[in-house]
Amino acid sequence: MWIADWSRNIAIARQHGHTVEATSYLDSALSGIIDVTLSAQNAAVAAESLGYGITFVGALRNNIDAVIDLLRLPEWTFPVYGLAIGVPDPADPADIKPRYSQNVVVHRNTYTPPTDDDTRDYLDRINTYYRDQELPADWAKNRLAGR
Ligand SMILES: Cc1cc2nc3c(=O)[nH]c(=O)nc-3n(C[C@H](O)[C@H](O)[C@H](O)COP(=O)(O)O)c2cc1C
Repeated sequence: MWIADWSRNIAIARQHGHTVEATSYLDSALSGIIDVTLSAQNAAVAAESLGYGITFVGALRNNIDAVIDLLRLPEWTFPVYGLAIGVPDPADPADIKPRYSQNVVVHRNTYTPPTDDDTRDYLDRINTYYRDQELPADWAKNRLAGR
């Protein structure tokens, strides 16, 4: 579990007699999330380098109160996601999920929106991936737009 955690710093600030206001700002939530994300990604790379497979599990936020209870999290913390680390089942190959091509996600100096061809290329590849995984293949309709 990867937990955004302002509780320690807030406790120290209070010990020094400060009232705490800054941590209620969205930017503070963002920096807590960025901190755990950097460390979780490093853990993912380390695990994969040892031959393990990983899956981030954002779905735990579907029932976040139960997770908070289970982990006995203090105030000023929240679970950002889980990271399942295990040995991939060779009988159930997951493959690597396609990404947008590099010319879509790398912008030189200013933002360049994807062309229709870029989008079509991605839709072709992602739909093939879902079909191979025996999931509903229309990614845009069933996953992106629906959600
Ligand atoms: C923040 C985050 C949360 C995710 N949550 C879930 C999840 O709850 N359940 C799930 O099956 N995959 C989830 N995923 C997707 C997988 O962890 C994984 O990133 C995706 O299947 C692509 O894997 P690949 O890079 O090995 O192809 C999440 C990914 C991210 C980045």
